[in-house]
Amino acid sequence: MSTTVIILAAGKGTRMRSQLPKVLQPLACRPLLGHVIQTAKKIHAENIITIYGHGGDHVKQTFAQEKIQWVEQAEQLGTGHAVQMTLPVLPKDGISLILYGDVPLVRQTTLEQLVEVSSKTGIGMITLHVDNPTGYGRIVRQEGKIQAIVEHKDATEAQRQIQEINTGIYCVSNAKLHEWLPKLSNENAQGEYYLTDIVAMAVADGLEIASIQPELAFEVEGVNDRLQLAALEREFQQQQAKELMQQGVTFADPARFDLRGSVKVGHDVRIDVNVIIEGDCELGDFVEIGAGCILKNTKIAAGTKVQAYSIFDGAVVGENAQIGPFARLRPGAKLANEVHIGNFVEVKNTTIGLGSKANHFTYLGDAEIGAESNIGAGTITCNYDGANKHKTTIGDAVFIGSNSSLVAPVTIGSGATVGAGSVITKDVAEQSLSFERAQQISKANYQRPQKVKK
Ligand code: UD1
Ligand code: CA
Repeated sequence: MSTTVIILAAGKGTRMRSQLPKVLQPLACRPLLGHVIQTAKKIHAENIITIYGHGGDHVKQTFAQEKIQWVEQAEQLGTGHAVQMTLPVLPKDGISLILYGDVPLVRQTTLEQLVEVSSKTGIGMITLHVDNPTGYGRIVRQEGKIQAIVEHKDATEAQRQIQEINTGIYCVSNAKLHEWLPKLSNENAQGEYYLTDIVAMAVADGLEIASIQPELAFEVEGVNDRLQLAALEREFQQQQAKELMQQGVTFADPARFDLRGSVKVGHDVRIDVNVIIEGDCELGDFVEIGAGCILKNTKIAAGTKVQAYSIFDGAVVGENAQIGPFARLRPGAKLANEVHIGNFVEVKNTTIGLGSKANHFTYLGDAEIGAESNIGAGTITCNYDGANKHKTTIGDAVFIGSNSSLVAPVTIGSGATVGAGSVITKDVAEQSLSFERAQQISKANYQRPQKVKK
């Protein structure tokens, strides 16, 4: 059966006190609505219809790359009214999942389960048992069967005691939505068109309402203010850390880890405190990441050890390398196996061959470095002339003495040596020694200027 996903995202989110529409607020670096769209794609929804209102253009632009049908709800007259807006584009058959742009973390498995139970009955929903149901719609059951949803404001004192609440997530046959939605009325305490009223209509039609509960409560939690956003972020991060531990990762403290994207891990990966992983990353077997490291769109192969406070963005690191502490690998940094990059070394758009080392205070940009070369402390590839970038080529087994400037474009042949303190502007031949220094002047028995005592 073909599945449509309908996402309600028209609310203003006044309580966020933000210029940004609520559904664009980021959770783990992704807009709230982006999480819902990602999950909709995972369940292979045939089409995704998003109902927008406030901040519509901004919301639409943010998801311009996604295949989404946008439906406007100019005035927010209730959840039922919102879904009514989709009727002109809603398929006549198939089934629809109704989700919310501000309930970001509902999981694929939960939705698949909901579709399965709802396909049999024509309508199903996710409910939840909570200690404090205040404010939520209550699930009214008779002999175990759902009869209706009563909103808190419309509920009797007895109904308010019910602790099973409506999460707002449903799965309904499209034929039934076409039949029921036009019949909604707004004669209730809030003067709104309640989507919840379709439940009583289904019961009147003799349908049984299927229901499931989420495995994790945060799956159905919504975001109305920044406190809830922060709380949901923590719950999400804890869950991600838990899943990584189940895959064999050791955390010094799972509560001090943030994953804002995805990470593929090998076995026996160890992660120290305050590590942030962004974008799509990969960590091979036995990789160790020291405290305070930030990794973005980076691959690190097996056995590599990264020491504290190293920053990676768009880097690829081979096996058994040693990086950091305080190293910075920028986009296009490609390190072969067993490379050593030490403190305060910045590497950008540079390939470094097997076993080469740059251990201290160095900038390597737009360079290609062979195997087993040693780049001395304080070496700078001068790659920029103020307008253009130029390349530095360094062969195998090269020794660059400390505090050298390599003014690109320049090539240092394999086996060559550059003496410390040189400014190299011309190519250096293989196996040769080049150095560039003013002659040292020495004066014996030199007296420094003396301070005169007053
Ligand atoms: C709704 C349910 C309630 C449920 C609760 C769960 C109804 C009538 N009630 O109540 O049973 O327990 O959710 O959180 O459905 N929205 C629109 N357009 C509108 C109105 C709402 O897009 O005209 C969107 C909001 O942006 C929000 C969502 O729908 O994302 C829920 O709306 P809200 O007004 O918060 O519903 P509740 O009163 O919380
Ligand atoms: Ca709400």
